[in-house]
Amino acid sequence: MTSKSVLLDRIRPAAEQPLAQPGVDRASIGELVREFYARVRSDERLGPIFSREIVGDWEHHLEKMTDFWCSVILKSGDYHGRPVPAHVKLKDVTESDFDIWLVLFGETAAELFEPATAAVFVERAERIAASLKLAMFFRLDRTAAAGGQ
Ligand code: HEM
Repeated sequence: MTSKSVLLDRIRPAAEQPLAQPGVDRASIGELVREFYARVRSDERLGPIFSREIVGDWEHHLEKMTDFWCSVILKSGDYHGRPVPAHVKLKDVTESDFDIWLVLFGETAAELFEPATAAVFVERAERIAASLKLAMFFRLDRTAAAGGQ
């Protein structure tokens, strides 16, 4: 292990360890995913975005998202996809859509898990959302223009 990863381990121990809590398993994570996307689909802003992109096979998306969250939370290694290109191609999504996404996710997690567990899900979601937003919206040319030249 390099000294850099030792340092990261100290700063973000939770990010490196599977969350070992009773009741946090693939079944409960699958329930979170299903309940969350039910809310997303009935949201007036996010619903239409998802129904344009996911035509028909929601079961496939829900299983993929369960793999994703099991990998993030339990370090299961189940997810092998590429989230960045899947989002960069969504041209009608704005930064404020992420706020709606995170509110719905936080509400769902808080209803299904103990507060400390829900907080871990939310913290991971916020960090991943920040990375996705950087990939989708950060433009060097825009930053340079804002700086005057
Ligand atoms: C406004 C915010 C968001 C919107 C509108 C959105 C929308 C979408 C859509 C439409 C897809 C399906 C793309 C496809 O199958 O071609 C997708 C996939 C996915 N999303 Fe999001 N997303 C958002 C935020 C997030 C956040 C915050 C996370 C993680 C915390 C996330 C994780 C994923 C993952 C893992 C996939 C699967 C990518 C793959 O492997 O194909 N999304 N998202």
